[in-house]
Amino acid sequence: MLNIDIAGLQASAEKEISEVITSVALEEIRVKYLGKKSVISEALSSLKNLSSEDRPLVGKLANEFKNNITALIEAKKNELEKGVETQPLDISLPGVKMDMGCIHPVTIVMREICDCFVKMGFCVVEGPEIETEDNNFTGLNIPLDHPSREAFDTFYLKSEVQSSKPTEKLLLRSHTSPMQVRVMKENKPPLAVIVPGRVYRPDAVDASHLFMFHQVEGFLVDKNVRFSDLKGVLAQVSKELFGSDIKMRFRPHFFPFTEPSVEVDVSCIMCKGKGCSVCGHKGWLEILGAGMVNPAVFKHVGYAPGEFTGFAFGMGVERIAMLKYRINDIRLFFENDIRFLKQF
Ligand code: DAH
Repeated sequence: MLNIDIAGLQASAEKEISEVITSVALEEIRVKYLGKKSVISEALSSLKNLSSEDRPLVGKLANEFKNNITALIEAKKNELEKGVETQPLDISLPGVKMDMGCIHPVTIVMREICDCFVKMGFCVVEGPEIETEDNNFTGLNIPLDHPSREAFDTFYLKSEVQSSKPTEKLLLRSHTSPMQVRVMKENKPPLAVIVPGRVYRPDAVDASHLFMFHQVEGFLVDKNVRFSDLKGVLAQVSKELFGSDIKMRFRPHFFPFTEPSVEVDVSCIMCKGKGCSVCGHKGWLEILGAGMVNPAVFKHVGYAPGEFTGFAFGMGVERIAMLKYRINDIRLFFENDIRFLKQF
């Protein structure tokens, strides 16, 4: 008779299988109990040495053992594959580091600009990027045949995507100023609004031009709003954006929708006004256009003549981000190179 304790083997195999928690360990158990060098395989291969009475008995027991253990291992394997497999908890193992992603520099600066105005009581509204010719131009006192339109070269949409009104041309807004018209048509002053958003112009792409960029438009309309209010608000914002020692200057300019109009410069944040390559040795950097809302715009939106006055301004977000972060090529913002984007 063969000298092995099949019942004992069966008990220890069952115990080990029930306790195993990884498929690797389970495979080790299979090799140990059923592999070529296992006790049971050796018993089966030496059956020939047994007496003819013992042979069928031992063979039967050994085969039963083999079938039982194979079934148990199969069942356990399924259980582990279903995800019940758990690694022993190793609390010293460092966690898996998640890549967090980051906020785009244009978004950071746009939010910063908006926050400055929100603190002063402005509210933020967004408008459509597809605009009517009327809101983008005519309502802003830019008549169809006026040469100032050339300054706002525009992407027009094909007539197939035109609106229900056949006479109304649609375009990709070339500035955020049309929101002045939309908001004023729907609301009566007092109004203090800022409009962050994308604008489009068919410019050739180079280090300082793209065909899509971001602007923040702002306007404040009420009774007796004065130019000095505009100066006060912009002085506060430029200090918050560029630092308290920043100087500001207003240069006369022309915009059809404001009268008088100005361009606003800040003292160069690099050389503090002494002159350097960033400011073209002028000591000043242009950051926005502004002015007092032209009465023609009030007329277009239906306000009574002389009832309200207001100021408006508009700035390019990429330009301000480039100045703040000393970025010398606007294309970097939209190339989506993670190495660039994660620096902010
Ligand atoms: N819309 C002008 C532009 O895109 C910027 C601007 C200038 C907006 C003067 C204004 C303003 O509201 O008063 O160049």
